[in-house]
Order: sequence, then C-alpha cells, then structure tokens
Amino acid sequence: MTDAKKLFIKTYGCQMNVYDSERMAEAMGAEGYTLTEVVEEADMVLLNTCHIREKASEKLFSDLGRLRPLKDARPDLKIGVAGCVAQAEGAEIQRRMPLVDIVVGPQAYHRLPALVRGSGPQVDTEFPPEDKFDHLPERRALRGPSAFLTVQEGCDKFCAFCVVPYTRGAEVSRPVDRILTEARDLVSRGVREISLLGQNVNGYHGMGQGGAWTLGRLIRALAEIDGLARIRYMTSHPNDMDDDLVAAHGDVPQLMPYLHLPVQSGSDRILKAMNRKHTREDYFRIIDRIRAARPDILFSSDFIVGFPGESDADFADTLDLVRRVGYGQSYSFKYSPRPGTPAAEKPAVAPEVADSRLQELQALILDQQRARQEAMVGQEVTVLYEKAGRQAGQMVGKSDHLHAVHVNDPSGRIGELVRVRVLASSANSLSAVKIS
Ligand code: SAH
Ligand code: SF4
Ligand code: F3S
Repeated sequence: MTDAKKLFIKTYGCQMNVYDSERMAEAMGAEGYTLTEVVEEADMVLLNTCHIREKASEKLFSDLGRLRPLKDARPDLKIGVAGCVAQAEGAEIQRRMPLVDIVVGPQAYHRLPALVRGSGPQVDTEFPPEDKFDHLPERRALRGPSAFLTVQEGCDKFCAFCVVPYTRGAEVSRPVDRILTEARDLVSRGVREISLLGQNVNGYHGMGQGGAWTLGRLIRALAEIDGLARIRYMTSHPNDMDDDLVAAHGDVPQLMPYLHLPVQSGSDRILKAMNRKHTREDYFRIIDRIRAARPDILFSSDFIVGFPGESDADFADTLDLVRRVGYGQSYSFKYSPRPGTPAAEKPAVAPEVADSRLQELQALILDQQRARQEAMVGQEVTVLYEKAGRQAGQMVGKSDHLHAVHVNDPSGRIGELVRVRVLASSANSLSAVKIS
C-alpha cells in the first residue's frame, strides 16, 4: 500500500509549456506526487495554460467547468492553473472560478510545492529575482529519446498582436554551464535529440566562458557531447539570424536541416503595422543565406491572417511570399485581438473575410507540405525511433527534415537511429523500409 499522491497535468500552448509541465511534474515528484493520465484518480489537477489567442485561453474556463463535479465530490482535490493565462489574469481566475486553489505564473512555478502545501487560495504571478531553474529538482520525466531544453525565455520584441512579452516577461537567457549540464544529463539517460527552446531562441545571449554566447556558439558546444545525434531550436525571429548561426547550419552535422522561422505576413505594410521590424525582402535574403549554407533545409513559418487593416492586396502578398519560399510546413491563424496589446485597439477585418483568407492560405500551405513530402519518396533518410507504431512490428519516428516516418521494423528499438528508404507519402506521414 502506497500513499503516493497522483497528479494530472493538461498542457495547452507551445513547446515551452510542454517543457514547463515536465519540470512542474518533477517539482511535485519531489513532494511525493506521481503522474496519472486518469483525471478521476488525481489528488491534484494542474492546467498549464496558453493565452496566445482568445480560443486558447477560453478553453481553460470550459475545462474548469468540467472539473466542477469532481471538486464537488472531493473538496480536497487541489486544482491549479499555471502558464500564460495564470500570468495574465492572476487572481481574477479564482474570482471567476472559485474551485481553483492555486494560480502560478510561468516564472514562479518552482514555488508550486509551497503553494500546494499552503491552505486557502494561493496566487503567485511574480517575476521573481531568482532563477527558477536553480530551484527545481533534476530532470526525471523523460518521455523518449527526443527532449526539450529551454535555453531562453520571454520576449522584448513586442509584436503589436502578441501577449508573450507580457505573460512571459523580458528576454532572459540561461547561463551556458547550466544548459550544458542539463544536456549532458539528458544524453546520459538516453536522449539522442535535443530541441533548444525559447520564445526568441536565436536571440540567445547567455553568459558563458569569456562573456555572452550566441546561439551558434552554444550549438557548437552542444555538438561536442558524445551521443547527442541531433540538435534543433525554436522559435526564431528573422532579425536574430546572425552569420555564425547561419554558418552553423552548414558546418554542424548534428544541427538538423529544418527551421521554423515565422514571418507572420508577406506584406510590408502589415509587417510594419505588426512591429516586426523587417521587410519581405529582408526575409527573402535571410532565407537565401540559410539555403546557401544548407541547401536541403526545410522551412516552416507562422502566419496571421486578418490583422487589422489587412487588404486583399496585403493578403495577396502573403500568398506570394509563401509561393516564393516554398515551405515544408506552416501554421496559420486568424488574428485574435488580445487585451493589452496595441493591435487590439484597431478596427478588425470582417470575420468572413478573415475566414476565407485563412482557408485559401491553408490550402496553399497544405499543397506545399504534400509536395515536399512527395519529393521524399524514393530517397534515403535517417529516422530516430520515438515509439512503436499502431501496427505490429512498426516503429514511428522523425526524419532529419522532421517528417513523421512509419517503418516496418520488428527488431527496432526506441532511441535507435536507422537509415530507411521512403516508399510512400500519405496525409501527414511517410512510410519507409529499413536499409540493411
Ligand atoms: N515567438 C514566436 C511565436 C510566438 S506565438 C515568434 O516570434 O514567431 C506563436 C504564433 O502564434 C505566432 O507566431 C503567431 O503566428 C501566432 N499569434 C500570436 N499572437 C496572435 C494573435 N493575437 N492572433 C493570432 N495569432 C497569434
Ligand atoms: Fe510574440 Fe514572437 Fe513577436 Fe515576441 S517575437 S512578441 S513572442 S510573436
Ligand atoms: Fe501560449 Fe504562453 Fe506559449 S501564450 S504560445 S503558452 S508562451
């Protein structure tokens, strides 16, 4: 008989939240909590939230509504709200939803155990002076051979539509030695691929030997770790692609040929209104420089349609940019006005116009994605096995270019890197055979 308490975590939003959820699970693990995937058997439910669009943040309140019967039946069930909605709305969440015991922001979650031990409603949305990572237990909750590692947090760019600078705070880079230690520890426990994370990861400027290091220098140091086969990083701002980072794409074999480089719009007028501080031509030049260093690289981007003031001609510029770059994959969103951001004050584009633009853009993006996948058929690629597939004897993993690949390989092991030949492309994945 064990008295281990059970923790259920639901994660919304970006990879940074996925990483934070793992770290919160580890912090609560030190308090005797183990993870469960069954919400009904949890002693604590933690919702790690996203504020980026209205839909994302409203999801929290509908999920909290669904937890009410559980809380009524078991008043000792602890309910916590973490992440970016917690930061943005603080104690307001408890006023609207009194069943919430704990509200904790993304920079204060090392204090979660203390908040859980406290009695009565607890709120901590401070940006504390101490580095939370220095107050968290070691990494434990590994989910496979591919791990996230946050190296930079927050954003100083203040794009006119975006809440991140408010919810995550100012840009902070973790020191080099902490990152290298965490990476070596991950690799010693079987991790083969590390994705370096940050809201503005290529603006990384953490302190290391001799002063502040760039992301390019950090990547070169990580590439020295024996057993670390793959390095990725996200999300990047076009203006922070410095020469050394671009060069690293050509001369660091572990750095994978895939880059998420969001541009948001293809119209100079809209880019200016968004406060992106670069033009479409600047973006094309950056893409060309990276392609010169690594010709087979695949790009992805984020796009916002229906930004205030976006005309048909502006939208046509976005379609044109997508055609010119030729993405491996992309994400597109309808503009959502966010409280406290400058763009929220401006008159909106008619919703039906924004909807039809979104459909048109998504169709183009899908065509490009399919074409890039089709182009892989017949090629040899390397796959890192991440899990067993649905069919017997099947393994699933990602290629260097981040395509999901299914391989029939009954002797395959999770964490293995194998050479395969691509046989076919379907909606969202490739199928392949192992080359013996
Ligand atoms: N730091 C990254 C991404 C931040 S959020 C960057 O600079 O690109 C992820 C994506 O959400 C953004 O790239 C943007 O496309 C989208 N997004 C952010 N705010 C939004 C809003 N108010 N409405 C719609 N989409 C938004
Ligand atoms: Fe948001 Fe990214 Fe712009 Fe920062 S750079 S404000 S995170 S969209
Ligand atoms: Fe969402 Fe916060 Fe990430 S708003 S996208 S969870 S940084």
